[in-house]
Amino acid sequence: MASTPSTVSAVADPIADRDQLASALRLIEREAEAYLAEVDEAAVRPPGEPSIDGRLPAAGAGSLATVNDLVAAAMEGATRSTGPRFFHFVMGGVTPAALAADWLTSALNQSAFNWVSSPLASRIEQVTLEWLKELFGIPAGWSAVMTSAATTANLVGLAAARSWWAHEHGVDVDADGLAGLPATPMFAGGYLHASAVKALGIVGLGRGRPRILTRDTSGHLDLDALERELVGLRGKPAILLATAGDVNTGDFDPIREMAELARKHHAWLHVDGAFGLYAALSPKTKHLLDGLEGAASVAVDGHKWLNAPYDTGFAFVRDANLHAGSFSASAAYLGTEAHSRPVFGNLGPEMSRRARAIPVWATLRAYGRDGYRSMIERHLELAQRVASQVDAAPDLERLADVPLNIVCFRFHPEGVRESELDDLNRKLGAMVLDDGRIYFGTTEYDGKVAFRPAIVNWRTTEKDADMIVEVVRELGSKLLTTAREC
Ligand SMILES: Cc1ncc(COP(=O)(O)O)c(C=O)c1O
Repeated sequence: MASTPSTVSAVADPIADRDQLASALRLIEREAEAYLAEVDEAAVRPPGEPSIDGRLPAAGAGSLATVNDLVAAAMEGATRSTGPRFFHFVMGGVTPAALAADWLTSALNQSAFNWVSSPLASRIEQVTLEWLKELFGIPAGWSAVMTSAATTANLVGLAAARSWWAHEHGVDVDADGLAGLPATPMFAGGYLHASAVKALGIVGLGRGRPRILTRDTSGHLDLDALERELVGLRGKPAILLATAGDVNTGDFDPIREMAELARKHHAWLHVDGAFGLYAALSPKTKHLLDGLEGAASVAVDGHKWLNAPYDTGFAFVRDANLHAGSFSASAAYLGTEAHSRPVFGNLGPEMSRRARAIPVWATLRAYGRDGYRSMIERHLELAQRVASQVDAAPDLERLADVPLNIVCFRFHPEGVRESELDDLNRKLGAMVLDDGRIYFGTTEYDGKVAFRPAIVNWRTTEKDADMIVEVVRELGSKLLTTAREC
């Protein structure tokens, strides 16, 4: 890896650096290849603190010296999250086709605002969104846009929900704002993700407004309570928030039942399917999304189970006018376009935007529906394998069913009191992160501190998944020994 120290050769203007372009690209190709060749075996935890000089340089170092410094900093400070044993959050790697296409995307440097700014980006986004609708079972007539993530896809869906709700009260919220409107009735189960809550704050519906209706302490939606609330509204419009794929367990809210209630009681159903929507790709899990076509908006991530590069998400909205309402913008110089060519820059928060569709298109073209089904089913099997290992281990306790790709469990050795388990698991979570062979921290599930490794990376094999239980038990027993010695 790069060891050449940066030699300061002042570059007065980028144009003086033009001849270095090919060398800089070759350098990065070599270094990235070496990095990725090691990522299957490397510790996930970066080895050190990246050395990044905080002073703004007056004289530039030139591209080659800069890229060399950057590679050295990456070796020190980059989490090997693109590798197969990063099970924290829900983060995919990047498939070979997606990575190559992403490099090209940077080289092409298109603005994916509209056809005029880039026919390539515009056409590829249009085609790719149709493919995604087909994969997920979303009706072809829905409006769609690529976003930076599921958070911004939630933002798009919930902005449309807000426009609809205000419109039902006779107000054009995009023109006139929310002032004077009553509080919006909103309901969700306990799986509601922090990003949907954040989006509710941004669109002015209020982070604290959704009523969480659960029938138990693990967050299952109480459908009877939901129906009672909706009946009580007597036809007044409401917003229902469903989660397809709980971040702690991979569990699903009952989408068909929620869609039916939404239809009956005049409500907008938004589904956050950041990673859970990929359940649609396997006949083994497709049923979890039963009734999805009855939703009004859906949010999905691309950088999770699709293994597209950061940052990629997708928003789908049934009513095209409501979708465009919040995000449309016009200026004389931007021009107007025919309906057959969507202006994607007017369907999401960004106007100037990266051509994110290019790597998504490439990965779908490279591996197709069958390739993705195969990867997802491999991950489903790996999750079941880890669940069985947890069940077989006397010092581990599984805390939830495993409907998808997440295994929620904790360290629970004999003789340790319930009141001590949270602290023990917190310490063990920190040890797992420090150790770095596998990578996940802790969460809180059902009032307990727990682990929730998520399997979404295309590189992950049985050998990687087996390390979850192995490492947790090894470090857990070390922790107990140290505690007893103290
Ligand atoms: C259910 C759910 N929704 C939304 C998100 C937010 O995704 P992002 O951080 O990619 O915006 C996540 C992330 O894990 C999630 O699990």
